[in-house]
Amino acid sequence: MTREWQSAEHAAAYLERADRVPHRSAGETTLVDEIPAIVHRVLDLGSGDGRLLDLVLRARPDARGVALDFSPPMLEQLNIRFASSPRVEIANHDLERPLPDLGTFDAVVSSFAIHHLPHERKRQLYEEIWTVLESGGVFCNLEHVASVSPGAHERFLGAMGITAADEDPSNKLLDMETQLRWLREIGFADVDCYWKWRELALLVGRKR
Ligand SMILES: C[S@@+](CC[C@H](N)C(=O)[O-])C[C@H]1O[C@@H](n2cnc3c(N)ncnc32)[C@H](O)[C@@H]1O
Repeated sequence: MTREWQSAEHAAAYLERADRVPHRSAGETTLVDEIPAIVHRVLDLGSGDGRLLDLVLRARPDARGVALDFSPPMLEQLNIRFASSPRVEIANHDLERPLPDLGTFDAVVSSFAIHHLPHERKRQLYEEIWTVLESGGVFCNLEHVASVSPGAHERFLGAMGITAADEDPSNKLLDMETQLRWLREIGFADVDCYWKWRELALLVGRKR
């Protein structure tokens, strides 16, 4: 298990800078645009404080959501954000283990979370997402992916205003092409990167 996210300091440090991630809102808006107009159930993997699920549910007012995370401080934030919302269920689960039985979904979304899993587990999780998606459903992963070279990674850090010493030790970055290939192999259609800024990429696949 990635221990960093169990710490209140680690979670608070991320939440404090979350709004300053460059171009983030462009990625989030593009993600919401990829979700069908009518969705009944949405699963958000590694929800953090629920910012992405909140955006999705505001854009799709008839939908209900499941927010999944394993970090006690993030689960606390989720409980605060969605305290008065009967539309949201909160699941405490470690994504390094197989998804629990949460039913099926019209959309599975995630932002900046799956890159914390070992590569082998990323691929298994993509297969599990396929299984829980309804036909016509979509998987949208706004993700932190690996740069094409150490130099490009250094330039990304510079653009983020941080150095290698500030990097999250729980990151397990993987290149975008491998992940797109995995999604195609699993059976997803229309697989592509729908938005990208340096190491931040929106990977989308649909289940016909
Ligand atoms: C960088 S934050 C992103 C949070 C949120 N999705 C957002 O966009 O602001 C990464 C999130 O993934 C969660 N996470 C990391 N590893 C996880 C795991 N193995 N199981 C469940 N959640 C995990 C962390 O607890 C944290 O909330």
